[in-house]
Amino acid sequence: MKVTNMIGAGIILVISITIGQSKYLEDVESTLIIFQLWKSEYGKQYQSVEEEEGKFQIFRDNLKWINQLNDEYSGFTEYAVNKFADMSKEEFMAKILMVSRPYPKHNKDRILQMDRIDDIPETFDWTTQGKVTSVKDQGSAGSCWAFSTIGNIEGQWAMMGKKLTNFSVEQIVDCDGTEDIVHEHADCGIYGGWPYLAYQYVMKAGGLESWDDYPYCCGLGGGPGTCFTCPAPSYNKTLCGPPIPWCNMTQSCVFKVDKSKFVPGLKVIDWKLVEQNESAIAEVLIKYGPLSVALDARLLQFYHRGVFKSRLCSKASLDHAVLLVGYGTDKSLFETTPYWKVKNSWGAKWGESGYFRIERGTGMCGINTQVTTAFLQE
Ligand SMILES: *[C@@H]1O[C@H](CO)[C@@H](O)[C@H](O)[C@H]1NC(C)=O
Ligand SMILES: *[C@@H]1O[C@H](CO)[C@@H](O)[C@H](O)[C@H]1NC(C)=O
Ligand SMILES: *[C@@H]1O[C@H](CO)[C@@H](O)[C@H](O)[C@H]1NC(C)=O
Ligand SMILES: *[C@@H]1O[C@H](CO)[C@@H](O)[C@H](O)[C@H]1NC(C)=O
Repeated sequence: MKVTNMIGAGIILVISITIGQSKYLEDVESTLIIFQLWKSEYGKQYQSVEEEEGKFQIFRDNLKWINQLNDEYSGFTEYAVNKFADMSKEEFMAKILMVSRPYPKHNKDRILQMDRIDDIPETFDWTTQGKVTSVKDQGSAGSCWAFSTIGNIEGQWAMMGKKLTNFSVEQIVDCDGTEDIVHEHADCGIYGGWPYLAYQYVMKAGGLESWDDYPYCCGLGGGPGTCFTCPAPSYNKTLCGPPIPWCNMTQSCVFKVDKSKFVPGLKVIDWKLVEQNESAIAEVLIKYGPLSVALDARLLQFYHRGVFKSRLCSKASLDHAVLLVGYGTDKSLFETTPYWKVKNSWGAKWGESGYFRIERGTGMCGINTQVTTAFLQE
């Protein structure tokens, strides 16, 4: 048995069957070894033997699923065991993703009007140009939408020549209960939300604190620094569902937000939607900076590297918001695949150092349906 150390950042083990193709062994003994190694790698502990047995079953099913995905997308996308390996698809959807919803529709006058740029480079990446902060980890909260919003605003700030700064995601999660009654969307804290509504919250609030002044705490899963934040003051129960039954008012927006700490000069004054044409999106990305996007991310659970694409994801229902930072073309032996480079909020150990690449030009998983950006006061 040849056990290879396949993943740089993690340990995880595979058995090489033929050169260039790796597969997890699926028999119980091998799976148990991989499970033990994975547990120590990720510091996993379970409350009881029963829980551990249940998690082991899920882990086994996931290894089989990963093997299938690797067979199917061989040469394009690699899948591997990661921190989500003991979560069933259903648990991943419930805890990490947002409830899947048809993408919000906006009025025509929301669409960003821009002159076409004729010659755009073949590859482009804002991460190498100081417009993107470090990769963060949303942890156990459905707060991706706040990370996506903040990523865009951080980029807009840096595009103005200001110092690249981590802004407060927690302020958005805690304080933003913006609703769009007409279209029946609302921002619901740890239960999900939409960047286009979060821009409106920042406009109304008048600014944002920095991450250091108002650090992230809602997704820390009970570890040091965890907070049990209460719903935002304008939380809409009809649209969001029942609020958290246990929460701590002194760890919530009304007690914590401090206008005197708002980053001086940072004001969101407007927001725009980018049309769905992916050539146009590339041009807007280059001209305006990193853009907030959303997609159906159910099949990203075990993404490891390569260009992600799937036959099974939805182009119309979205469950995860992220940040578009660049694009390029992957040239393999068999095919060339245009891709987008996207910053995720699942930690720097996930995917390609916290990023993923997804096929560009085919509306893959709805990546082109909810492309938005804030506008800042100069
Ligand atoms: C943002 O925060 C991270 C820690 O999460 C830190 O390493 C980084 O230097 C900060 N600043 C920027 C601009 O990313
Ligand atoms: C919450 O949303 C519902 C459904 O869109 C709406 O009818 C209601 O007015 C909202 N409630 C509050 C308190 O804003
Ligand atoms: C509520 O939060 C405050 C401030 O973090 C803390 O001191 C207090 O112990 C918490 N209360 C409960 C019941 O957890
Ligand atoms: C998309 O935009 C490009 C240029 O940015 C244009 O040439 C093309 O015709 C557009 N495609 C559609 C379907 O509108």
